[in-house]
Amino acid sequence: MRRIKVGILGATGSVGQRFVQLLEGHPWFEFGALFASERSVGKKYREVAKWSLPSEMPEEAADMVVKSMDTIGTSTDDLALMFSALPGTIASEMEKKCAQAGYAVASNVAVHRMEKDVPLLIPEINTDHFGLIDVQKSNRGWDGFIVTNPNCSTIVMTLSLKPLMRFGLETVRVATMQAVSGAGYAGLPSMAILDNVIPYIGSEEGKMESEPLKILGTLEGSEVKNAEFTICASCHRVPVMDGHTEAIWVNFAENVSEEEVKKTFKNFTTDIKTPFAPEKPIIVRDEPDRPQPKLDRDAGHGMSISVGRIRKGQLGHEMKYIVQGHNTVRGAAGASILNAEVLVERGFI
Ligand SMILES: NC(=O)c1ccc[n+]([C@@H]2O[C@H](COP(=O)([O-])OP(=O)(O)OC[C@H]3O[C@@H](n4cnc5c(N)ncnc54)[C@H](OP(=O)(O)O)[C@@H]3O)[C@@H](O)[C@H]2O)c1
Repeated sequence: MRRIKVGILGATGSVGQRFVQLLEGHPWFEFGALFASERSVGKKYREVAKWSLPSEMPEEAADMVVKSMDTIGTSTDDLALMFSALPGTIASEMEKKCAQAGYAVASNVAVHRMEKDVPLLIPEINTDHFGLIDVQKSNRGWDGFIVTNPNCSTIVMTLSLKPLMRFGLETVRVATMQAVSGAGYAGLPSMAILDNVIPYIGSEEGKMESEPLKILGTLEGSEVKNAEFTICASCHRVPVMDGHTEAIWVNFAENVSEEEVKKTFKNFTTDIKTPFAPEKPIIVRDEPDRPQPKLDRDAGHGMSISVGRIRKGQLGHEMKYIVQGHNTVRGAAGASILNAEVLVERGFI
């Protein structure tokens, strides 16, 4: 396999640093350029990345000089792919600029996710939505293109919902307990979150209620027809460093036993076999007090989700369970890397 040079937009942030960490030693991708704000441009990456464990900073990135995004499309470089971890406010313009300049963009950012010709991907679920790439290129006249991965809490929930679709999902209710790393490095003052729960995360509930319907929808011609069930989300920030935990209540069209649900989770497999694809996307935890972020977030190198506490509810054909996943790996940088790997494997890059 040829080596592919990649750029990282927002390389010094919470997700950007996770990209750098996860890409170290990747068998297909190598660091081509690291981009960040004017604060960091011209400095060595080791000086501006607020690395939590400096000894773990990949040497090959540490001495790279952070570049300005103004250089994108103007200089000749041999990058083929851009990973984006930019704040939403600037991501829209920058990602479009990259796609126009001919790069494939694998984005974590929300801005383009719900646009009709932009794939919103979880490779274990909807690689058929790659069909939107040609639609996007033709609509916009770009040589490159943008693909996106969902919001961090959405990925964790939606992976767990996929195998349950066979029972006829009618409604899904979810209450999240989300880690502080999801708010970004400068996101939350420690005085606000320590010893506390914050029952509001801006625009999170809307994302959780809309993104899964696109991901679980079917590509019909040049458009995705959304899945037809309703989702009601309540999102909360808790003093956990990494790993989102979600309590989920689903209502099925038919009566389903706990054993059937457990078996369905256990049997869930996919044909995605690229380096970042977890051997088991869903791991069932049988212990009554699992999953927990501290014990389970690193399962499958952070790319597997864990489910547990599967039990019947009281309302109609209701089932309750807990799902847990690593928000900056499975829910962010790792998700984009997996998308990019599948793009390479299928010849889009
Ligand atoms: N954290 C998560 O779990 C998570 C999960 C899924 C999706 N996301 C999304 O991923 C994106 C990044 O989130 P984050 O948590 O990593 O944010 P963050 O920690 O605040 O990092 C932001 C990054 O963007 C750069 N940046 C800021 N303003 C810029 C500008 N004007 N021009 C160029 N670069 C600029 C920063 O560079 P400097 O260091 O130089 O300022 C930094 O590298 C967001 O859109 C977020 O919604 C985050």
